[in-house]
Amino acid sequence: MILFLCSFGFILWRQSSATVIGQLNWTPVFQGVEKNQIDMWTKDSNGCQCHFNPSKKDCACCVKPSGCQCGSSAPNKCAQCGLQQYCNNICNVTITQNAIFSESKSLVGQIKSPSLPGPALCWYLLKPDPEHRLELQIYRLVNVGRFNGTGCQSGYIHLVDESDIKAGSLGVQICGENERFAPPVVLFADKGAATLTLRIEEATARSQFLAYYSFTSLNNTQGVGFRPSGGKRIEHTGCDWLYQDFTCVSKPEGCILASPGFPGLYPSHVTCRYHITMSSLRTKVKIIFITLSLPHNHCATDYINVYQGPSSSSTHLATLCSNKKQELVYSGPNLLLEFKSGFSIPPYDYNGFVAKLEFIDKSTTTQQPLSVFQNSIKTTNIIASSSEKFNKHSQEEVIARQIPHSTALVERRGQIEKNCFVRIHGNSTRSGHFGTRSFTSNWSNCTFLFIGQSTDLVHVSLFSYLINVSFCHSYIEIIDGNILTNTFKSIQKICSPKIKYARNSEGKFHEQQTFLSTGNYLSIYFKRFKPATQELEFEEYIDGAFSFLDEYAEGTLQPNTLCDVTFYGLTSTSIGKIHNHGSQHLFWNVEGPLRCSQRFVPAANQSVTLKIMSLGQLMSNFCHTKCGDSGCQCININKTDDTLSTTKYDHLFILNEHNVTLSCICGYFREEWLPIIIRSWSPITIVYSVARYNWAEKGFSFEAEYKFIYDNVCGYQLINHHSGSTQPTPIQEGKELNYYYNQVCTWILNSNIERQLRIEVTSSQNRPCSAWNISLHEYEFSTENHIGRLLHQFCPRDGEKTYDLPWKINVVAIKLLAMTRTLPKFHIKWKSQAVPTNTRLSILTAEASNAASSLVFHIVIIKAKLPVRMHNPKNLRSSIIENGLKLFRGDLLVCGL
Ligand SMILES: *[C@@H]1O[C@H](CO)[C@@H](O)[C@H](O)[C@H]1NC(C)=O
Ligand SMILES: *[C@@H]1O[C@H](CO)[C@@H](O)[C@H](O)[C@H]1NC(C)=O
Ligand SMILES: *[C@@H]1O[C@H](CO)[C@@H](O)[C@H](O)[C@H]1NC(C)=O
Ligand SMILES: *[C@@H]1O[C@H](CO)[C@@H](O)[C@H](O)[C@H]1NC(C)=O
Ligand SMILES: *[C@@H]1O[C@H](CO)[C@@H](O)[C@H](O)[C@H]1NC(C)=O
Ligand SMILES: *[C@@H]1O[C@H](CO)[C@@H](O)[C@H](O)[C@H]1NC(C)=O
Ligand SMILES: *[C@@H]1O[C@H](CO)[C@@H](O)[C@H](O)[C@H]1NC(C)=O
Ligand SMILES: *[C@@H]1O[C@H](CO)[C@@H](O)[C@H](O)[C@H]1NC(C)=O
Ligand SMILES: *[C@@H]1O[C@H](CO)[C@@H](O)[C@H](O)[C@H]1NC(C)=O
Repeated sequence: MILFLCSFGFILWRQSSATVIGQLNWTPVFQGVEKNQIDMWTKDSNGCQCHFNPSKKDCACCVKPSGCQCGSSAPNKCAQCGLQQYCNNICNVTITQNAIFSESKSLVGQIKSPSLPGPALCWYLLKPDPEHRLELQIYRLVNVGRFNGTGCQSGYIHLVDESDIKAGSLGVQICGENERFAPPVVLFADKGAATLTLRIEEATARSQFLAYYSFTSLNNTQGVGFRPSGGKRIEHTGCDWLYQDFTCVSKPEGCILASPGFPGLYPSHVTCRYHITMSSLRTKVKIIFITLSLPHNHCATDYINVYQGPSSSSTHLATLCSNKKQELVYSGPNLLLEFKSGFSIPPYDYNGFVAKLEFIDKSTTTQQPLSVFQNSIKTTNIIASSSEKFNKHSQEEVIARQIPHSTALVERRGQIEKNCFVRIHGNSTRSGHFGTRSFTSNWSNCTFLFIGQSTDLVHVSLFSYLINVSFCHSYIEIIDGNILTNTFKSIQKICSPKIKYARNSEGKFHEQQTFLSTGNYLSIYFKRFKPATQELEFEEYIDGAFSFLDEYAEGTLQPNTLCDVTFYGLTSTSIGKIHNHGSQHLFWNVEGPLRCSQRFVPAANQSVTLKIMSLGQLMSNFCHTKCGDSGCQCININKTDDTLSTTKYDHLFILNEHNVTLSCICGYFREEWLPIIIRSWSPITIVYSVARYNWAEKGFSFEAEYKFIYDNVCGYQLINHHSGSTQPTPIQEGKELNYYYNQVCTWILNSNIERQLRIEVTSSQNRPCSAWNISLHEYEFSTENHIGRLLHQFCPRDGEKTYDLPWKINVVAIKLLAMTRTLPKFHIKWKSQAVPTNTRLSILTAEASNAASSLVFHIVIIKAKLPVRMHNPKNLRSSIIENGLKLFRGDLLVCGL
């Protein structure tokens, strides 16, 4: 025997005859210490007083205190006290740790099955006490099935515990015709009771196995019992674990994960997922494989895959198998380590893996004294880690796959000034990360000042912070404005004690905590309490991300949203490009569905053209796009699921002003269908919806162009002539295949004399009513758009129609609705005529007639009053928007006749 001290600090025995290489180890149970000992419990076959008959002295002598004589049926044998009734036939037995210990004062024992002719079945229920695990060592198999290349045939022994059953595994299956295992095959069960079964399915002369068992404390650091550290078992799974960086920090030994049953053989056909999460943008994890011992030449069935993201559909980063150990370094926010096993393979000389996780806060590797920090400030310490920098630095940083066009290099010398004052300029960095964790610790307050360009707003998100002293001695204050002037306003003051981690204990991100400035300055003041005499055990910190938003070019962010913006025809750039959200650092803590919208609001006399230029791959198995005359539609091709929930598939859709979908794109998409263009005379919204977003992988990409055009084609018009005609204003039509027009035009016809109104509508187009139609409505005084009860509807297929309106209905609303590839062609004529009383059309009820008679108005458009506060561009902007909308809706001044 040789005593080894293996890499974990376990003391273990290895038989010198063992030929197996690797970290196979086990608890020494029976070493045959005393010479001439018959078996584990029998010292001598006779010479001792018989327990069943004290007058006889020719019974076996037992090892004390654990051995007990078997009794009259086998007077020359001993067994473990508590099991002596099974002396010759240990089969179908329950061995409970506390019972066996109280009888025999031993936590280890032997299971030597009876020599049974097959077919046969024996079970052994082994019940460790709480906080204990079972270790089983198999030494010998005789006629217990055979390995046929894919599994055990005709017989096996196996060990399963509850979690194996949950994971759908048969546990470990071992078979062999005549095997002596040296070292033994070691199996562990550390999740409560486990069942060892011997099953022989064929006729055999004798089948038998020999094993030793041992109950050991889970926290036993002297034996081989391995205990994972820092992780959290995920409930209702067989062997899934969650490892979060902040829980590892609190463990002296850090985070250690291992294959199930380590250092024993792992179960066959299991999938174990080890989720690793990080709570800062700058944190990386180093995965150090201390042990890797998977069967040789079985890389197809026994392997570890590492994924960048929360699931195995995420980007695959690495595969490990056999015994090729590696050290891996990846950034977050999530990694998945997935272990898969195939069948158990003889000679069962492998035992899985152990890995240690080290979390690295990118710039804290060298601690610098404050003096250095104050003088020149190492640029590596800088807060804003821009995407560009990531790309340059390392390939494993999959983090920056989509670089927003607006993100620039951040590093600027002297950005951290004296006394922890940090300026971040919007002219050089559009999006980035900030935090104090990488700063050397000797500061009492820290200020982040975000300085945007003139049309910028500052958007910040706090991912995590730790201020843990009492009575608000430490605080974080978010300030709208420049802290260096005296015109700022506090948005929120976060008082200690308060701890916000980026994620909850299940590893899910907490809700975003974001702040938006009203102007182009935002300040964050972090006051840190520090007792003069003693160092605090923990370091107080703040960690988050920022982005600058150019309202002029990127739209106006809607309050309390992450990414819903509006472009107003009057105040935004008239031509611009938009693209998918999700690449700014603010999205770091978004996981799951992501929905962002960009809304375009044309002013009166304007239309907006939205042209989808490029589109990445949309993730969906059961949705596809069909484009027709009335736009593109998302079609559900999963027959068993008719609720196409937006969280199940990626899609891009365009809504009209009433949130009705005009077009939807999902699933497999062909390049040649692009561009898809919608020209609209009413507000439209493009919605970007990703079913499963995460920062590492982002969502699908798209790019679109928009253009606001003054064309006077549509909108809201008031016509004050008692007769006349109108036709669509000719515009140049797009040649593209998927060019759609979305028109909502309203004319208020006010024939200013009390006569009967005759309206004639003609069209030469033979089109369905759904492509476009014209409807005549009563004028509704009280509603916003003045569209009242429907009187008539004209469909293009009607060709020509004349509508005589009831007497005295002199004001009507005519509405054109179109969503089509071809511009509607029509001609509307109207005439008010005096008719003899007896032929007057009157379908109105008395009440409605009264109402109608009061509807005789002169209608005048109020001129939009321009705002007084011209000096403030923001006020001007919102005022124009308000008035523009009023104008757009045609404000009416009503005077009695
Ligand atoms: C053990 O119990 C099983 C049923 O649980 C039975 O089928 C089997 O025959 C028993 N084995 C012996 C040797 O008695
Ligand atoms: C090996 O044995 C297993 C279990 O009985 C069986 O399912 C499998 O088909 C066998 N394979 C071959 C190649 O015979
Ligand atoms: C292990 O746990 C037991 C309780 O199950 C406790 O009595 C013992 O002190 C622990 N040992 C160590 C080393 O923590
Ligand atoms: C912040 O700390 C610096 C020294 O580190 C000090 O000069 C300054 O007065 C502090 N500011 C406030 C508002 O306490
Ligand atoms: C950004 O603006 C600041 C002052 O507003 C100026 O000092 C700095 O040089 C500018 N940086 C760039 C890259 O233009
Ligand atoms: C921290 O700052 C205090 C004074 O503010 C100084 O006395 C102390 O030496 C500094 N500690 C370090 C480690 O720089
Ligand atoms: C926060 O403070 C409490 C009490 O002062 C302490 O028990 C706890 O460990 C602290 N938490 C952290 C994360 O430092
Ligand atoms: C169809 O929908 C059902 C119910 O949501 C789901 O279980 C199934 O996996 C879906 N089928 C496909 C092919 O995605
Ligand atoms: C359309 O949806 C947005 C966001 O869900 C909502 O704010 C708005 O009120 C909706 N508009 C209408 C007309 O329903």
